[in-house]
Amino acid sequence: MSTRKIAVLTSGGDAPGMNAAIRAVVRTGIAKGWEVFGVRNGYSGLVEGQIDPLGARDVGNILQRGGTFLGSARLPGFKDEPVRATGLANLSDRGIDGLVVIGGNGSQTGALALSRAGLPVVGVASTIDNDLAGTEITIGVDTALNIALEAIDRLRVTASSHKRAFLVEVMGRNCGYLALMAGIAGGADSVVIPEADTEPEVIAQILQAAWTRGKPHALVVVAEGARHNAVKLAQHFEREKGRLGFDLRVTTLGHVQRGGEPGAFDRLLATRLAAAATDCLERGEHGRLMGLWQGQIRTTPLDEIVGQTKPLDLSLLKLQKVLAQ
Ligand code: F6P
Repeated sequence: MSTRKIAVLTSGGDAPGMNAAIRAVVRTGIAKGWEVFGVRNGYSGLVEGQIDPLGARDVGNILQRGGTFLGSARLPGFKDEPVRATGLANLSDRGIDGLVVIGGNGSQTGALALSRAGLPVVGVASTIDNDLAGTEITIGVDTALNIALEAIDRLRVTASSHKRAFLVEVMGRNCGYLALMAGIAGGADSVVIPEADTEPEVIAQILQAAWTRGKPHALVVVAEGARHNAVKLAQHFEREKGRLGFDLRVTTLGHVQRGGEPGAFDRLLATRLAAAATDCLERGEHGRLMGLWQGQIRTTPLDEIVGQTKPLDLSLLKLQKVLAQ
């Protein structure tokens, strides 16, 4: 019987831990006696045929590095069937009959479409947004959160020296997970997330109450996807500065949050999920996402998670408000 051949790609926004996941796919695949290929630059590279064999040594010394050494991309055109057909033909020309897709929502939508076209595909949940259904936590979010926290802690230092109010915007697309967790762990006075709209005047009252209670600083964490994001809140507070009597300094963390070296949690999560992905292919199960549930690996059909919104635990927002007193 000929050797099985599988490929691995990373797609969408990169996330710390993607390299650890690639390494685990390659080495667990080789341990099963398979040949493993790496697809460069996500679905773009798949369509352009950028597919090369990967050996165990090719993935040496990447475990601890952020980003993805295979490269990543967003390819909106992948939703078109003829574009996907080109990608599928590039795999079959090389005799590849299995694919591991490491990425978030958009990437797993592409994975589902390939699976429906008959390719054995498994997904590995990876995005700093932690908005993917089918898993409690995704690869990269823990490291991104720690980067946001480091920035928040530093801002608190200078905020205290100057008795200032600071607003920090974090990523997360339409999901408030990063902002809420950063707000709780960073001791924010207020957290603004898409899942619970907050009017600027409510934030102003919270900040004023913080001064009244004698706090030396005030801190607001805002999710980029909130209706009142950093730009909108900055405009409001600039307009109302005279009436409110304080300045709000704004820091937008942006892509800084994605570029870190993965911490222990993300390296381990990535390794476990990616190893589970090759096990899944070996069992002949596919069209599934590898995720984590109550500490255990859980596989969920891609068609049950694609297009779904993972609910945020809003009891944690109540807790944040209590703790901010
Ligand atoms: O999905 C990850 C993410 O970092 C989001 O938090 C953010 O909205 C988006 O990607 C930014 O995308 P890009 O890197 O394409 O600007």
